[in-house]
Amino acid sequence: MKRFLLSLMAVVILSACTSNKETTEESRVASEMHRGEVVYKQTCVGCHGVDLRGRGSSAKDLSQIGSEKSPEYIRSIIENGTRSMPSDLVTDEEDLDALVEWLMEQK
Ligand code: HEC
Repeated sequence: MKRFLLSLMAVVILSACTSNKETTEESRVASEMHRGEVVYKQTCVGCHGVDLRGRGSSAKDLSQIGSEKSPEYIRSIIENGTRSMPSDLVTDEEDLDALVEWLMEQK
C-alpha cells in the first residue's frame, strides 16, 4: 500500500511538472515577440523589410533608428507619413506606442 501511494505521488508530481513546463513554454512563445514587432511585421515589413534595412525599395533603413532619431520623430512619421510613405498606417494608440518603443530598441 505504501509503495502504491508512493508511486501514485510520483505520478502526480511528474504530471504536475509536465503541465508546468507546458504553461511556461506557451507563455514564452506568446511573449517572445514584442507587440511593436508584431505591428511592424503586419504593417511596415512590406516596404522596410524583415531586417529593417528596406532593401530593394526606397524605404529608409530603420535598423539603427533607435540611436539616430527620437521617439517623437518616429511617431510623427508614422502618423503623418513622409513623401512616398503613407500616413495613418497605425491608428490604434497602444499599437503605436508599442511600435515606437520597439523601434527605439533598434540600434
Ligand atoms: C508604402 C511603403 C512604406 C510603408 C508601408 C512604410 N514605410 Fe516608412 N518609409 C517609406 C519610405 C519610402 C520612406 C522614406 C521617405 C523619404 O524619402 O524620406 C520611409 C521612411 C520612414 C521613416 C523615416 C526614417 C528616417 O531615417 O528618417 C520611418 C521612421 C519609417 N518610415 C517608419 C515606418 C513604420 C514604423 C512603418 C509601419 C507602420 C512604415 N514606415 C511603413 C515607405 C514605407
